[in-house]
Amino acid sequence: MNKVLILHGPNLNLLGTRQPEIYGSETLNDINNALYEKAAVNGWDIKALQSNHEGALIDAIHAAREDGTAAIVINPAAYTHTSVAILDALNAFEGKVIEVHLSNVHKRESFRHHSYVSLRADGVIAGLGSQGYLAALDAVIRAAERA
Ligand code: DQA
Repeated sequence: MNKVLILHGPNLNLLGTRQPEIYGSETLNDINNALYEKAAVNGWDIKALQSNHEGALIDAIHAAREDGTAAIVINPAAYTHTSVAILDALNAFEGKVIEVHLSNVHKRESFRHHSYVSLRADGVIAGLGSQGYLAALDAVIRAAERA
């Protein structure tokens, strides 16, 4: 069965209560549940992980190299703008990588305009709220169907 890993970076465990005017009112569970449902309908195996720790996200990317994961959908949150280590880990992963941001980072402070992860990502989605994750999963599934 095709596998996809969903990674959520720091502070995304607070979704629903964290700056809802920017990040929306859905919780991380709401988002993961919608992803699980879409994956199940399409016969995909999905694993979702949120961590506030850079190393835990990196360990999950390393594990994905070994367990046949076809794609990673990642919202690296603030690590987007700082983490060469997450970029390096993703560069060591051979599958598809889609970067997702709930908000349109390009409309926000200039420090959010640069993404290390974008140097590796096959696709980037920003500003579509939780729909962005579903669009990313859709892209992953369709790409696998074409392959
Ligand atoms: C974010 C945007 C980042 O700049 C920010 O640090 C986040 C969330 C987003 O989903 O819009 O924590 O990745």
